[in-house]
Amino acid sequence: MAEGKDTMNGKTVVITGANSGIGKAAAVQMAELGANVVMACRSLARSAAALAEVKQRTSNEQVELLQVDMSSQVSIRRFADEFRRGHQRLDVLIHNAANFDLTIKKPVLTDDGIETIFATNHVGVFLLTNLLLDMLKASAPSRIITVASKGLMVYPGLDIEFDNLNGERSYNPQRAYYHSKLAQVMYTYDLAERLAGTGASVNCVRVGSVALADDRLGNMPGFQKKLYALKKKASLTPEEMARTYVYLAVDPAVGQVTGGYWDEHNKQVKSNANSYRSETWQRLWQVTEGLAG
Ligand SMILES: NC(=O)c1ccc[n+]([C@@H]2O[C@H](COP(=O)([O-])OP(=O)(O)OC[C@H]3O[C@@H](n4cnc5c(N)ncnc54)[C@H](OP(=O)(O)O)[C@@H]3O)[C@@H](O)[C@H]2O)c1
Repeated sequence: MAEGKDTMNGKTVVITGANSGIGKAAAVQMAELGANVVMACRSLARSAAALAEVKQRTSNEQVELLQVDMSSQVSIRRFADEFRRGHQRLDVLIHNAANFDLTIKKPVLTDDGIETIFATNHVGVFLLTNLLLDMLKASAPSRIITVASKGLMVYPGLDIEFDNLNGERSYNPQRAYYHSKLAQVMYTYDLAERLAGTGASVNCVRVGSVALADDRLGNMPGFQKKLYALKKKASLTPEEMARTYVYLAVDPAVGQVTGGYWDEHNKQVKSNANSYRSETWQRLWQVTEGLAG
C-alpha cells in the first residue's frame, strides 16, 4: 500500500467501537497516517485509556473520543449532532462496533423495541450512515466500511428472517449475531448501488478469527474460556485484521471499488448465496427504515 505519515492529513475518520480490539488497532493505524480520528465509543470512562494510548503511540493529537451507544437511536442521533457541530467533513466511516454477547439466552429488546444484537449491529449502522450521509457525499471521494464475519460460512442457507427479527419465533444469540452480520453484507451491496455516482463507496470486511483480549470474554463459562485460549493461538491479532480496514479506507487501488466483500488478505470473496438477492435487500432496507424511524 502506498502510504506514509501524511497520507490522511486533513481527513476525518470515524471508527465505532474504537476503544478495544480491531477498532482500537485501526484507530492507531489511521492516526499514524495523520488522520483526524474520532473514536466513537459506548463508555467515555472506559475508553479514556484507549484514547490516551492512541495519542501516545502515534504522537497524533488530532484524535478524540465521542460517546455513542449503537444500540440506542437517541444516542446515535445525539452523536451525529455532536459530530456535525465539531466537524466540517467526514472522509471515512468505519462501522466496527458490534454486540456479540453469546451468553444471552432470551431476546433483550432495546428502548426502541428492537432485539439488541440486530439493533446494534444492523439498525444502528443503517441509522448512523444515514445521519452522516450528506457529509460523506460532500467530502467525496469518501468511504464507508461495514463489518461482517467469516463465521457466516457456517450458516450457508441463512436468510433474513423478517418474521423473527425480535426473536419472536425462536432465539439463539449466535444465530442472531450471524443474522445481523448477514444483514450488514446485504446492506453493503444495496447501499453501494444506491450511492453509485456520488463518490461515496461502501465495502464490507469479512473478519476472521481475531484474538479477543481476556477482559472481553465477559460471562463466558470457564471451560469455554479454556477452549478460547487454544483457539486464540491460531487467531489473527487485531492489528493484522485492522490492516484490511485501513486498506479499504485509504488505498488508492480500491478508491473506485464499491460493494465488495473482503477478507484479511485484502482479497474479494464470495458471501452467502442468499446475500445476493436484491429483492431481499430492498425489503430489508424498507423494514430497517421503519425500525430506524
Ligand atoms: N474477534 C473476532 O474473532 C471476530 C470475528 C468476526 C467478526 N468480528 C467483528 O469484528 C468487529 C470488532 O470486534 P473485536 O474483535 O475488535 O471485538 P471487541 O474487542 O470486543 O470490540 C468490540 C467493540 O464494539 C463495541 N460495542 C459493542 N456494543 C456497542 C454499542 N452498543 N455501542 C457502541 N459500541 C459497542 C465495544 O465497546 P465496549 O467496550 O463498550 O463493549 C468494543 O469497542 C465486530 O464487528 C465483530 O463482530 C470479530
